[in-house]
Amino acid sequence: MAEDVSSEQIEQWVHLNGKLVPKQDAALSIYDHGFLYGDGAFEGIRVYEGNIFRLGPHLARLFRSARALKIELDMDLATIHARVVETVRANHLKSGYIRLSISRGVGLGLDPAHIAKGSTVVISTEQLRLYPQEAYDQGLDVITASTRVPPACCIDPQIKSLGRYVNNIAAKLEANRVGAGEALMLNMQGNVAEATGDNIFLVKDGKLITPPTSDGALPGITRQAVMDLAKEMGISCTEATITLYDVYNAEEAFLTGTAAEVIAMTRCDERVIGNGKPGSLTQRIITDFRKLTLVDGVKV
Ligand SMILES: Cc1ncc(COP(=O)(O)O)c(C=O)c1O
Repeated sequence: MAEDVSSEQIEQWVHLNGKLVPKQDAALSIYDHGFLYGDGAFEGIRVYEGNIFRLGPHLARLFRSARALKIELDMDLATIHARVVETVRANHLKSGYIRLSISRGVGLGLDPAHIAKGSTVVISTEQLRLYPQEAYDQGLDVITASTRVPPACCIDPQIKSLGRYVNNIAAKLEANRVGAGEALMLNMQGNVAEATGDNIFLVKDGKLITPPTSDGALPGITRQAVMDLAKEMGISCTEATITLYDVYNAEEAFLTGTAAEVIAMTRCDERVIGNGKPGSLTQRIITDFRKLTLVDGVKV
């Protein structure tokens, strides 16, 4: 197995508006709308052993976010695809994280008509490990945050917009305050939407359930991968509204996200979920998901 080349060992490159620049020289305008107003969108993408996992679906979601925000990108999807690959290669990244951020562009004043220059596109890479191995072995202790997922009439949670994340950060602060691994977020109706950076799945009667995007869940790439795996395994997986009652009484529960991957949730709000250990179906999905990350995507 090839060793990862760590960021200390070699020069790191960032793709900034179509140009590869050394990371230390990658600078944005202080009037970038992403910085001033959170007026942009992003994708977090993983590379596993030289395989950029589901790059196509990530770029498709980025373009859906941009369309919803009416941000006109100066690059088409094929160009961004090529630049992501170029950045990963330039950084000799075998396994790690790709951050792809866009903003409406540069201009003071919130009116998009004041944007002087075209959109901003930044692609950078990093090493990433969100949780220690212990968390994967034992499962996460999660709380429910008081901060809610906004309804679609405010910031549509289907858009992976920069600005929406102040809300998720507020919820994450609630988790940090009590030493929990993650926070569940409810929608305005009090139903479970997702976690601050992950989607949620429950096992009930041996079947999988996950909240629909209309309940405030991000259309997660890992979520879709788990749905695809369930189909291959012959396990029923439905999108349905869930409440905290369902979470507390689930046979198993797990979270999915690009950063966290698939991780069991074994406690929630001081209730033990199932037998308090990662369940057998969760473990099967973790195993199959790990295999999938090596083959499903774009090779670099
Ligand atoms: C709010 C939120 N929900 C869910 C997810 C999981 O989505 P994905 O599997 O595409 O990373 C993320 C992470 O991207 C997120 O930020």
